[in-house]
Amino acid sequence: MYQTLLTTLGNNVLTITINRPEKLNALNKDVFTDLENVITEIEQNEEVRSVIITGAGSKAFVAGADITEFNSLNKGQAVAMAKRGQDIFSRMERCTKPIVAAVNGFALGGGCELSMACHFRIASENARFGQPEVNLGLIPGYGGTQRLVQLIGKGRAIELLISANMIDANTALQYGLVNYVVKQDELLSKARSILETINSKAPLAIAACIKAANAVYDETVNGFDLEVKEFGDCFDTEDMKEGTAAFLEKRKALFKGK
Ligand code: COA
Repeated sequence: MYQTLLTTLGNNVLTITINRPEKLNALNKDVFTDLENVITEIEQNEEVRSVIITGAGSKAFVAGADITEFNSLNKGQAVAMAKRGQDIFSRMERCTKPIVAAVNGFALGGGCELSMACHFRIASENARFGQPEVNLGLIPGYGGTQRLVQLIGKGRAIELLISANMIDANTALQYGLVNYVVKQDELLSKARSILETINSKAPLAIAACIKAANAVYDETVNGFDLEVKEFGDCFDTEDMKEGTAAFLEKRKALFKGK
């Protein structure tokens, strides 16, 4: 079904592995097409409650956009390519099912940008993050200049953007770019264990939390107003009635996403 992705669905978690290990999982046009399609699958498949994105092999999450596709591009094509990448990553960020990046090695350029479009990140000890585009006479084009500032602050972000320096997993943890650093062979189990907890919560409330948190960075929306609206909407859901009843009856809530 996908040329460049491996997908497995278990316990309502869709695990997506970007599968071009011989090119360190670099993002080419085929990966973009597959990502567009897999996001549609995530949105439409009710069995999918949450998602893990990782890279094939033990060396790289994604080592960037595929540089071999850059040489032949003119300016108009480059703009279209950046716009396409931004649109895909924005769809991921706005997805109301949680998407976690399990960063298993190099997350450079478009790979760092992909990880930042996920809702949060977990890294293995060998992970390395960076935006090395200035080495190529370029800048990030898939939202990296914006999300890096949002996630780690302007001073650290500008230093990384203009030096092309890589940071290791523990520095990424210290910067708040990743939530956890674990041994490589524990990376996916850590991600699954966090998502098991998340998947036991009310799906519509999870979706509302993501929408409200995203509103912080959306100038067209007042996040406080959105929060009030979403809070009110929760009172129309069966899950809110179930959650509050279960608490009062001292039992575990069983949510239906309704
Ligand atoms: N685009 C296309 N091919 C890439 C790639 C990318 N972003 N990153 C790695 N590859 C390819 C290499 O060309 C090489 O292919 P080959 O075996 O056919 O020559 C293969 O993946 C393995 O990479 P290699 O460079 O040999 O591994 P390394 O361990 O020596 O170095 C990196 C690892 C990540 C430091 C290095 O590959 C690198 O700097 N990649 C580019 C990172 C980058 O600038 N990304 C931003 C792009 S905008």
